[in-house]
Amino acid sequence: MSLSKYVARIMHPRPVSVIVSRSRTGEVNGCSVSWFMPVNVDPFIFSVSLSPRRLTYSYIKETREITLNIMPFKFVEEVHRVGSVSGRELKNKLVELGFELEESSVVKVPHIKGALAYVEGVLINELPFEDHSLMVFKSLKVHVDEKYFKENVFTEEAEILLHVGGNIYAKPSNYVRVG
Ligand SMILES: Cc1cc2nc3c(=O)[nH]c(=O)nc-3n(C[C@H](O)[C@H](O)[C@H](O)COP(=O)(O)O)c2cc1C
Repeated sequence: MSLSKYVARIMHPRPVSVIVSRSRTGEVNGCSVSWFMPVNVDPFIFSVSLSPRRLTYSYIKETREITLNIMPFKFVEEVHRVGSVSGRELKNKLVELGFELEESSVVKVPHIKGALAYVEGVLINELPFEDHSLMVFKSLKVHVDEKYFKENVFTEEAEILLHVGGNIYAKPSNYVRVG
């Protein structure tokens, strides 16, 4: 079997979130990411692998703050578009693509209305590689829509958006409880 350029897709499906960032001068931008993961429980630290070519990368280097928004399946079209065009080509990308933004409580970066959960985070470390950089954030606050988060897990009804690869997406189904 030949290994394509996207060999990392063997590690999909994985949840997709939208990172919102803000420039020094106050412009807000959005970027879809599926390469994110928890790193530490207390304090809650998480990481995102981001290409330095993203406008989002430059904004994060400027102000260090983000919100990471966990999106439900119903936003699949919008999330795909946010991840297909750079804020360099489409100013005010999130609003132009139909997202509604709301003020966050700690950081100056807004979050997305309708997210199942969002984390307010600040950049604390970075590990650069050839084409992506592992950016490590400390969480300042986590918000969860409790309608879809019960007994410390997202319910099946939350319909977390998963990225399979390219323009293929999915939602989790057939939850099972073991033991
Ligand atoms: C579903 C999906 C997942 C993505 N995941 C990542 C990711 O984890 N890291 C990354 O650097 N880019 C990722 N991208 C690509 C960026 O979202 C895309 O390049 C975006 O246009 C960057 O926008 P910006 O230049 O305005 O920051 C993903 C795109 C899609 C559609």
